[in-house]
Amino acid sequence: MFIKGVGMTKFDYSQKPWWQFCYEATMEALEDSGMKISEISAIVLTAISSAEGTTEHQTHKISLLSDLFKTNVPIIEVPSVCAGGGVAVWTALQLEKFKNILVVSGERLVDDKSEMTVHWILSAAERVLEQTEGMLFPVQNVLVWQQYMEKHGGTMDDLALIAYKNHQNAALNPKAYYYQRPVSLEDIKNSPIVASPFRLMDCSLSVNGGAAAVLSQEKSDIEIIGSGFATDYLLTFCREDITHFKATRLAAEQAFKEAGVGPRQINVAEIHDAFTSVELISYEDLGFAEIGKGAGLIRSGKVNLAGELPINPSGGLKAKGHPISVTGLAQVYEIVNQLRGRCGQRQVKNAKVGLCHNIGGTGGSVTVHILKKIT
Ligand code: COA
Repeated sequence: MFIKGVGMTKFDYSQKPWWQFCYEATMEALEDSGMKISEISAIVLTAISSAEGTTEHQTHKISLLSDLFKTNVPIIEVPSVCAGGGVAVWTALQLEKFKNILVVSGERLVDDKSEMTVHWILSAAERVLEQTEGMLFPVQNVLVWQQYMEKHGGTMDDLALIAYKNHQNAALNPKAYYYQRPVSLEDIKNSPIVASPFRLMDCSLSVNGGAAAVLSQEKSDIEIIGSGFATDYLLTFCREDITHFKATRLAAEQAFKEAGVGPRQINVAEIHDAFTSVELISYEDLGFAEIGKGAGLIRSGKVNLAGELPINPSGGLKAKGHPISVTGLAQVYEIVNQLRGRCGQRQVKNAKVGLCHNIGGTGGSVTVHILKKIT
């Protein structure tokens, strides 16, 4: 299948309902595609937040979208927490009988109280055993990282370099939360401890926003040449090896096989850096580095914007922001624009093949998509 066009709102703390973010991103994606909403034959929606207890709360989201877009086409909702965007793209790829499919997401995850953000984020992880023991996402991920350091090495300085790279990239991205607000390596290394040894700057930034893509059976300049989707146990600590994400390996294997390319053919990638450690571990799970050698990529500068394999040129979840379900589609937005050469100061040179890697929870669901510029 092909991608005709993409759209994305700025990621920030704007207080709009989730459907308004969907609307704004869709209008941009349609304009980018040169299409009208009447040409869309099916819609795939992914969103989890909805301000419970207010008039914004709506469980019949698909009917609300029908209203919003004045359309009666089938609309499928695929809530899948942080992997929602990737799972929505994967779902659209299975809908072969529909010509043009809109894939869209919008979230208002952050309001003036942190309760709502915490509620929606925690619903993406195991609540009975892990969370009652205080294992919220930063804690789960720090335990994974401690095990990784024990087994393979890697240091907090390596993670600080990852945060620094992603903040530098976000400073060049007008739609990123940290646009034109560079953060120094010193600020990163001195940021407050959140779950020792993780600091604030090792964590992704929760924001509001929306993103959309128009997929089509009709040829365009961007083809999705590979797609993979795998799941894993909700209980992180019941997995065989917690130092790596098995679902990433499986999804990557599927996507590379279908695309007929390997990790060496990828010119640019958006990786799910929910925590800086997740980006480093994913270098290995995606095959960009050997097991235990991920730190070499950030130490050598290979994954910097000017390096051989730029990772997260958008600023990633760390500094562009992470509006849960929207993230996977925001990755597609970035890679399409990179392949089309539209990224201005953060443009990756000669990008022809790009990869999007989207994780739900602490590796409980993962998608990998490989996109290619074909004309
Ligand atoms: N990186 C950079 N800046 C951050 C940030 C982060 N991760 N988190 C918050 N900030 C900034 C905010 O923008 C705000 O800046 P401002 O004063 O200029 O507006 C300031 O820090 C305070 O924000 P606040 O929301 O009060 O921070 P907090 O202490 O409540 O939350 C974390 C900080 C790290 C606990 C929170 O960001 C977090 O839990 N992140 C991980 C989210 C997560 O688990 N997502 C799911 C992943 S699978």
